[in-house]
Amino acid sequence: MSQRPRLTVIGTGYLGATHAVCMAELGFEVLGLDVEQGKVDKLNAGEVPFFEPGLPELLSKNLESGRLRFTTSYAEVGEFGDVHFLCVGTPQKKGEMAADMTYVDAAFSSLIPHLRDGALIAGKSTVPAGTAERLATQLERDAKASGVELAWNPEFLREGFAVEDTLRPDRLVFGVRSQQAEDKLRAAFAPVIDLPTPVVVTDYATAQLVKVSANAFLATKISFINAMAEVCEAVGGDVTQLSKALSYDTRIGGRFLHAGLGFGGGCLPKDIRAFMARAGELGVDQALSFLKEVDAINLRRRARMVDLAREVAGGSFGGMKVAVLGAAFKPNSDDIRDSPALDVAATIQRQGAAVCVYDPAAMENALVLHPELGYRETAVEAARGADLVLHLTEWAEFREMDPAVLGDVVAGKHIVDGRNALDPVKWRAAGWTYRALGRP
Ligand code: UDX
Repeated sequence: MSQRPRLTVIGTGYLGATHAVCMAELGFEVLGLDVEQGKVDKLNAGEVPFFEPGLPELLSKNLESGRLRFTTSYAEVGEFGDVHFLCVGTPQKKGEMAADMTYVDAAFSSLIPHLRDGALIAGKSTVPAGTAERLATQLERDAKASGVELAWNPEFLREGFAVEDTLRPDRLVFGVRSQQAEDKLRAAFAPVIDLPTPVVVTDYATAQLVKVSANAFLATKISFINAMAEVCEAVGGDVTQLSKALSYDTRIGGRFLHAGLGFGGGCLPKDIRAFMARAGELGVDQALSFLKEVDAINLRRRARMVDLAREVAGGSFGGMKVAVLGAAFKPNSDDIRDSPALDVAATIQRQGAAVCVYDPAAMENALVLHPELGYRETAVEAARGADLVLHLTEWAEFREMDPAVLGDVVAGKHIVDGRNALDPVKWRAAGWTYRALGRP
């Protein structure tokens, strides 16, 4: 294989689109594939179909350089690529805990007949352990080309930091069965490896597990501090102070120790559920039974937020106007998948309030999923006439907001901070009642 393999990226969601653009930025020739013509047309026109800071600029730059383009044709992808990155989604199955493998299976089966001799498929999608082994058997059985192989190369990018995480990852994990497969992956990541970036070379099973166990650990850390928030509420403690004090212990560390409304998004919630489902199939469900509690603690925060808001509203939402600041599952994203903010907003509306939402990026997506909620173009407009304001996604814009400006338009100066991100001193000084989860 030449020094610079030609790369393809199959599936152009958050993961795939970012990977395709960043690999082109690193100097590779990249062909991205999606089965949705509309997505491909948008990307070829320089338009990123979701919100990700820094990505639109890099997309335009690399389309212009001629190193990057997108197609719907598997034949073209097979002809083009030395290394094919499989980046399609694995959402939670409807009505089940397990991951839906339909997209992975469809992409894999569509690609196999078109592979060139010596091609490598590198799976990046988050999959249940055992998937790579199954796909490798299928590849061996069905591929007409010779010397084709599968590797598993999990991806750890965070939405909102996707470009940075792809260009400068913490680590690379290569699940391989041969030296050739490792060499091909090393060639495909040469500029990243040279940074330097640590590479863990391992078997398929471990490579697949790294991803789900990383997400399980992060989810556990968030639920741990949220469980402490529940205890703080019972004893009159302050979870933000507790978290700060814990963070100085370098064995614990402060990251992912931020208490509040809990985790959402397209990864953490469904990954811990799929992990439990897979552990059950493998006969080791006991090993992961603690994740049930992690999930339960997380969902309890949403219920507690609704209760706290109702308490501040005087015991009932009936006839109340409630402003909700934030719809995305976290700041710097327009992603509303399993968003705690929208979940709380919809529940409160169902309980009789008129809810008005503002989010800097996620309103278009939110409107599709929750057309029953009101949407306003600014925080001030959402808050106009509100009896109660809820801060549910910690965008910088909300942190920097002047409480006096909002105070001028609301009907009642009551704010509940679901993310422990606003400054209580500032809000109280401006005449607001400030309440938050896990603190007095
Ligand atoms: C996550 C993993 O971090 C990433 O490595 C993996 O590749 C995909 O899943 P992402 O879903 O983009 O990334 O979001 P992340 O930044 O991990 O946040 C997840 C959720 O946890 C958000 O809802 C966030 O608000 C919440 N969170 C995070 C907390 O409630 N407290 C914290 O301290 C940190």
